Amino acid sequence: MIQKFRFGTPIKTDATVAELPVIPVTAAKDAAALTKFFRLSLENGFSLSLAMDDADAVYGLGEANRGINKRGYKYVSCCTDDPNHTEDKVSLYGAHNFIMLIGQESFGLFLDYPADICFDIGYTKQNELTISTDGTDLDVYLITAEESATAAPSSRPAGNFAESAALSIVRQFRTLIGHSYIPPRWAFGYIQSRWGYMDEKDIRRVAKGYRDNHLPLDSISMDIDYMEDYKDFTVHPERFPDLAALSAEMKEQGLHFVPIIDAGVKIEPGYDVYEDGVKNNYFCKRADGTDFVAGVWPGKTHFPDFLNADARKWFGDLYKRLIDAGIEGFWNDMNEPAIFYSEEGMEDAITKASELMKSKDNPDLNTFWGMRDVFNISNDHADYKRFYHNMDGNKIRHDKVHNLYGFNMTRAAAESFDTICPNKRLLLFSRSSYIGMHRFGGIWTGDNQSWWSHLLLNIKMMPSLNMCGFLYSGADLGGFGSHTTRDLLLRWLAFGIFTPLMRNHAALGTREQECYQFEGLDDFREILKLRYRLIPYLYSEFVKAARNDALLFTPLAFVFPQDKTACEVEDQLLLGESLMLAPVYQPNVSGRTVYLPEDMLFVKFTSATEYSMEPMDAGWHYIGCALNEVALFLRKGHLLPLCPPCECTKQLDYTSFELIGEAGKGISYELYTDDGYTKNMEQEGKYVTLTL
Ligand code: GLC
Repeated sequence: MIQKFRFGTPIKTDATVAELPVIPVTAAKDAAALTKFFRLSLENGFSLSLAMDDADAVYGLGEANRGINKRGYKYVSCCTDDPNHTEDKVSLYGAHNFIMLIGQESFGLFLDYPADICFDIGYTKQNELTISTDGTDLDVYLITAEESATAAPSSRPAGNFAESAALSIVRQFRTLIGHSYIPPRWAFGYIQSRWGYMDEKDIRRVAKGYRDNHLPLDSISMDIDYMEDYKDFTVHPERFPDLAALSAEMKEQGLHFVPIIDAGVKIEPGYDVYEDGVKNNYFCKRADGTDFVAGVWPGKTHFPDFLNADARKWFGDLYKRLIDAGIEGFWNDMNEPAIFYSEEGMEDAITKASELMKSKDNPDLNTFWGMRDVFNISNDHADYKRFYHNMDGNKIRHDKVHNLYGFNMTRAAAESFDTICPNKRLLLFSRSSYIGMHRFGGIWTGDNQSWWSHLLLNIKMMPSLNMCGFLYSGADLGGFGSHTTRDLLLRWLAFGIFTPLMRNHAALGTREQECYQFEGLDDFREILKLRYRLIPYLYSEFVKAARNDALLFTPLAFVFPQDKTACEVEDQLLLGESLMLAPVYQPNVSGRTVYLPEDMLFVKFTSATEYSMEPMDAGWHYIGCALNEVALFLRKGHLLPLCPPCECTKQLDYTSFELIGEAGKGISYELYTDDGYTKNMEQEGKYVTLTL
């Protein structure tokens, strides 16, 4: 059951799709269902707090740091461009205000509020949960598990799982916010990316590196250097003289280009996007009505006002310029929005720096530390108060709606795609997001680092992203910042072959990390080929999850809530109905310990086509898994269908499947399939029963 409580007059976010009766709250007594669990305070902003039992677990928050169980830290929903997201960071690129407490009493909470929210989950006091905002205008949705689910998970199947309280709450939340975006099937192919592919020669070299070495590949994503001076919707005339011809040439090889689009529009007289934006008042404005200026990659930019429906339509329609050149996929970036500096911020810093220099002993150590702070002006909250949006004629200061910006950039693109190519699915993913954006596109998890800890973070984040509707998602495999290593990349790929978005991306200046840059190419080739063998299963489970508002990656705790050990295991995940994953995420190890909550079949791939199978009893096991191997576990009574290996999705063969599972027991799998790119999924889609 979902109850919707309204505090004050919230800003319309379009996060949800379901219409629910509204319970207006003017005093605590109006929110009895909430105050049954929480202490509610409307003094000094809004806050809800409760004492947690030792056994309570707290899940959710989508793209957030740390573990699946979020207890023990605090998190602030504030879309932030932070490429150095170490364990202490409280905000990442997305703002996903859904949390769920599972314990004696279980419930979920979605706070539809697009400014900063702090979730203090045992940080200030170890057993206290406090959710607080500065403002008091928000909608709060309280979601309780359906009766039959709160009892021991029993007869109510969701997918193939008995529905636990957690699964029931997530399903209801997902129904509230609408079905997830479904990309074209080729988007499940492997994507190679790098910031620093400068021209078409570089692109051809990457294509050749993969094709000549028979390393499977479906797409090359193009970073900012394809543009002319980082101007959105332009193509550099010398470096990419004929994008349409290049795109056609690549398509011949089964390859797609996926260009980046940045939020900021370069200020340059004569550049039509800039001129049109200024003329039509499509850019965010300062209090005095002038267009706000922020420094991003192109230098000085204006931010399109994506919260203004007309500006959204204008910006979305501009993607047609690239679509007309044969482009079928995009990634939207810098849309928190990232602000390296603002003119006002820079002036303030200079004033503060000269103040520091004035005192008589200076420069001294304090001046030095002070100077460092003073010039730390990127992504400064002060800037969020310096510009305004025009939302349906209302002037709204950016800090009050900050978390909606990236969402609406992606929505702009998706809504225009519906008119530009009404019956074709395009690939679209974004860096920044808010709840509700999952209906329009996927996300990648931003600038991680080539660290083993970020591989583990990727593993733990996947189910939380799914809880918030982001099914098409993944991390920069191999790590974006810092130099990767062969073993880290191999282990990361061995997990990445299971994530819907499978993209290897790296920063300018880091070691080249295309698979063919490393020795022992066979190891990479076999892992990538295995990905292609898995695509029919992944695509089938993905579409089922999208349509049924279910999870693709499920924490063990949600399926085995009675098993205390399973509830604490966070480095293993269920994937779809058949699989459990236990990725290796540490260096210099030849295997790992795995906890089996039930008897399973251990399947170890030594190449894309060779594997061993070993039935294992429930409990702890040590499994060997070398650098070039992929381990997975098949659940009893389930099958894993694998198609023949191939080098791009164009070659996927749906006519002959190898079925892994217990033979002779009549076990079957319902494989969903369709043409992979049109939107007629209701008509085109079909289920094929595969039986072993
Ligand atoms: C941002 C993006 C990254 C991209 C870079 C240059 O840091 O997150 O993926 O490579 O900008 O465009």
